Amino acid sequence: MKCQRVTVFDGESDFMKDISSLMQTRLTTDHIPFLNSVAEVAAHNQVSVYVVGGFVRDLLLNIKNVDIDLVVEGDGIVFAQKLAEKFDGRTSRYKKFGTATLMLQGRPNIDVATARTESYSCPAALPDVEPSTIKLDLARRDFTVNSMAIKLSESGTFFLIDLFGGEIDLKDSLIKVLHDRSFVDDPCRLFRAIRFEQRFEFCIKGQTKQLMRSAIENNLIDKLSGDRLMNEIKILLSEVDPVRCVDRMRELSLLQTIAPEIFNDDFHWTIMKKVDSALAWADMIPLTKKPEAWFVYFHTLFMVEDDEAFEGMMMRLNFPSNIYFRMCSERECFVEAMHDLSEERELKPSEIYDIFSKQSSEAVILLLAACWNKRMKEYVELYFKKYCASAKIELNGDDLIGMGMQPGSSFNDVFKALRDARINGQVTSRDEEIVLVESQFLK
Ligand code: CTP
Repeated sequence: MKCQRVTVFDGESDFMKDISSLMQTRLTTDHIPFLNSVAEVAAHNQVSVYVVGGFVRDLLLNIKNVDIDLVVEGDGIVFAQKLAEKFDGRTSRYKKFGTATLMLQGRPNIDVATARTESYSCPAALPDVEPSTIKLDLARRDFTVNSMAIKLSESGTFFLIDLFGGEIDLKDSLIKVLHDRSFVDDPCRLFRAIRFEQRFEFCIKGQTKQLMRSAIENNLIDKLSGDRLMNEIKILLSEVDPVRCVDRMRELSLLQTIAPEIFNDDFHWTIMKKVDSALAWADMIPLTKKPEAWFVYFHTLFMVEDDEAFEGMMMRLNFPSNIYFRMCSERECFVEAMHDLSEERELKPSEIYDIFSKQSSEAVILLLAACWNKRMKEYVELYFKKYCASAKIELNGDDLIGMGMQPGSSFNDVFKALRDARINGQVTSRDEEIVLVESQFLK
């Protein structure tokens, strides 16, 4: 790769490196013509445009990343509209931040932002933003490895702009902040640092580690709103190996104040480490709904026994009421199921059905991880492969009325008895269902 010294910023000289050939070899064929067309639109509108953030980092790491973030020295929203016109797409705009999302047919959405500086009125507040240059835009970012840009030019040459030593830190496998206030400005970065460190098997050390420890000791995450905190937890648990991230959180005592119980007892930790195997095992059987892996890990972390601790965590994460009620009811079902499954005797098929039919697919995985043994796997497999299908009954409410029964809550008892008999193999046809109703409910 060629290194040349070029003037790119007003009155300043910085290193830019021609990475055109690297891009040619590493990107898929349609990327380059697309980025060249973006550069043409920029030249036509007399603005400078850059690809920034994760795309650049992953290109240098040779990891596939299809999410393009663009920064424009100029009006990002207007530029996004110009691109939408050129490529026959649509935009949605966020005026307050000078950003837009560009939606093009057959491509992942592209974020287009006005180059900006950010200032924070107080720790963890949403930033006040002002249009600025690419240099200042890169300087407001979280880590050196995420603060590089690729300048797109009409000539078709791609220049890497690396003002903070991001490329060296990538080579040295380091996650480093750009300045001392990084975690104070945005405590979400505590989670981000752990995510990137664990994802790439990098290291957080020295000053960055000290700053993290001090932000954690000073409880800066308490300043984050429930929504932002929940969002970070969700993204972290969606990583390929969330257990490593949670382990690192444990080590650094992050989340300790919100959910002390989960970090102090080994029960959660033991289950957590089995979730991955439970998910992989369950992938081979036909679950009614594919479980969302991050939600299984989330359940594992937050399924605490103590009512007060549970309520406290739910309040802190500020769930909308539907999710809050779902969490509460799944917790109840989980506790009940753990109790039923602890019985030593073999359970009847209808009992197994009763246990699993109340659980979401995420809670089933959690149960599997909590009772990771042969019997439990057999139960889960039987439930999904056999009992779900055999639980179907033929008689309906009209049939029962036709048989002389009065509609009411007693119908539920009839249907339950019929379903149990079906699952347990005592009834196999409509005629046998009628005999059962007559003998048990009409005499
Ligand atoms: N960023 C930041 N501080 C944050 C969030 C984001 O500085 N709290 C900047 C970083 O430069 C980051 C870019 O915004 O690279 C885009 O953020 P995001 O899409 O969240 O992350 P990526 O780096 O693209 O990582 P991922 O691979 O997880 O999508």
